[in-house]
Amino acid sequence: MGDDDSTTMPAEAAAVVAAGDPKPWKAEYAKSSRSHCRACSKPISKDTFRLGHMQHAQQFAGFMPPRFIQHKQEAFWFYRFLSIVYDHVINPGHWTEDMREEALEPADLNDPDLVVLDVGGGTGFTTLGIVKTVDAKNVTILDQSPHQLAKAKEKEALQECNKVEGDAEDLPFQTDYADRYISAGSIEYWPDPQRGIKEAYRVLKKGGKACLIGPVHPTFWLSRFFADVWMLFPTEEEYIDWFTKAGFQDVQLKRIGPKWYRGVRRHGLIMGCSVTGIKPESGDSPLQMGPKAEDVKGPWNPISFAYRFVIGVLAASYFVLVPIYMWLKDLVMPKGQPI
Ligand SMILES: C[S@@+](CC[C@H](N)C(=O)[O-])C[C@H]1O[C@@H](n2cnc3c(N)ncnc32)[C@H](O)[C@@H]1O
Repeated sequence: MGDDDSTTMPAEAAAVVAAGDPKPWKAEYAKSSRSHCRACSKPISKDTFRLGHMQHAQQFAGFMPPRFIQHKQEAFWFYRFLSIVYDHVINPGHWTEDMREEALEPADLNDPDLVVLDVGGGTGFTTLGIVKTVDAKNVTILDQSPHQLAKAKEKEALQECNKVEGDAEDLPFQTDYADRYISAGSIEYWPDPQRGIKEAYRVLKKGGKACLIGPVHPTFWLSRFFADVWMLFPTEEEYIDWFTKAGFQDVQLKRIGPKWYRGVRRHGLIMGCSVTGIKPESGDSPLQMGPKAEDVKGPWNPISFAYRFVIGVLAASYFVLVPIYMWLKDLVMPKGQPI
């Protein structure tokens, strides 16, 4: 499970607190899913995560990954450019058609009349998998990027789908609206993933199912470094924790990955798991949360934006190389052996 709600103080944090008033430790410009200080268990207000707010070591009890693109404006501009090549360059390395089938299988898209939301649907690659079994006119693609949605609009099979510009953390749909909530490869950009999953719960009907496909955190040090600089790569435990806290039942996690990785997960995966849960009761999630912290059209500081964007994009480039490296390894290593 995630350590957000840990009420026990980790040993290293206890040592810092015992040493007295700690020195300001670093400018904390990270976004985190952590809502409570690990040392003192007090709630951490959202704006303490913004650039320039000095934090004390005891507040975080260790390194806080910067995750430069896990912000709405940075993600918006990231996809302003990436949408041009997204379907041709990004998906073949990380999110293939056979992975999509595997990942959508637990969503039980078994009836053409299901009302389906594809949140962070982008260019519609995942939606193309959904409309294989669900009537396109019952499917809505929501994304905060008009540039990504413009690509979805070009696809013949998606002509009848509704396309909506909106925010995954504040869905423009009524409570108890949909039979299925699907989101693939989008959570990593949400500043507050728990809020997005709470929204998934809200918009589903009683008995409806959420299926969230997303990255998994690397364990190999170099990959972990670049992942943490780029965006949110949750652990499997964090996904289960967020779903459970939102109120979902029968929460399941299925591992996925490109075939040529032969099951290797140490570099992390941009599409590494498919998490499902069922909404047991109608109405809003039992989880109480304050107002959302960020908006794509909110105020912004151009200097902090520019440096976060540039460093985040550089870190992301590493993950263009990883699938190529794994593909070469798969070519040269004897078949049937671990790589
Ligand atoms: C990696 S793409 C995935 C697109 C698509 N689901 C697919 O399977 O190819 C991530 C998408 O999430 C969108 N996104 C990021 N943050 C969002 C937010 N807060 N609300 C809605 N969409 C968001 C991005 O604009 C982008 O189109």
